[in-house]
Amino acid sequence: MKVTVVGAGAVGASCAEYIAIKDFASEVVLLDIKEGYAEGKAMDLMQTASLNGFDTKLTGSTNDYSKTAGSQICVITSGIPRKPGMTREELIGINAGIVKTVATNLISHSPEAIIIVVSNPMDTMTYLTHKVTGLPKNRIIGMGGALDSARFKYRLAEALGAPISDVDGMVIGGHSDTGMVPLTRLATRNSVPVSEFLSKERLEQVMEDTKVGGATLTKLLGTSAWYAPGAAVSALVQAIACDQKKMFPCSALLDGAYGMNDICIGVPVILGRNGIESIVEVELDAAEKAHMSESAEGVRKTNALLDV
Ligand code: LAC
Repeated sequence: MKVTVVGAGAVGASCAEYIAIKDFASEVVLLDIKEGYAEGKAMDLMQTASLNGFDTKLTGSTNDYSKTAGSQICVITSGIPRKPGMTREELIGINAGIVKTVATNLISHSPEAIIIVVSNPMDTMTYLTHKVTGLPKNRIIGMGGALDSARFKYRLAEALGAPISDVDGMVIGGHSDTGMVPLTRLATRNSVPVSEFLSKERLEQVMEDTKVGGATLTKLLGTSAWYAPGAAVSALVQAIACDQKKMFPCSALLDGAYGMNDICIGVPVILGRNGIESIVEVELDAAEKAHMSESAEGVRKTNALLDV
């Protein structure tokens, strides 16, 4: 199993590191436009192999896509990250051109690949990747919901005073501060609804903290986060590579599901060797439905800025 990660910045490198540490891929190629950068990160990571006990071979490439040929999974992290005070949507001007070029290059060398899009504004970049590659909809996956759900579980565990392993929950909708739809009604602590433990007000707070999860970190770090985004991507890559049939909320091209068409937005999907094996339609209540359609409106507004 060969995996390519485009963008050797913090998210791309963390993602490559987590993939390597889990030791399920034979090869990871890191690619970046900055001369020598991907080669350096790959070499540094390879020098952790004997310490961390993995056999995955990591190599780097400065913009030479022939090195990525025959990849089964390609991850696009390229583009600029947000700075404190910026929304993900503000990145569209620069990132759309980058994602277009990267997606086209990847598919010309790995025509069978499944693509995972991480670059922001992610739902719109996933939609753009569909438009420029024309790949079947199961083969393009936007990573947002897996990360947002991990942040949701972190906040739930904090509110509950419980270990994170006791908590389950999911965030659907757009990967933006206003677009996320944390499904608190369905979140549980060891199968018991979290509403049995937390007041409505505390749950509202958890929702708000989850939605600004990325912005909170951007403010603290001066740039956007990388450990949890990298770990979330590696979990999706593993689910596909190992045909796990695991369920994650991911940005998927909808044609009818959740009553929507021609939009990429976060919905629960089953990931396996074919990428998106199916979309899971969860029965939403009226408030969640309203929240979801508001979220879709936001994503469509950003999509309208694309030149496709
Ligand atoms: C974040 C970026 C990856 O949420 O969108 O941290």
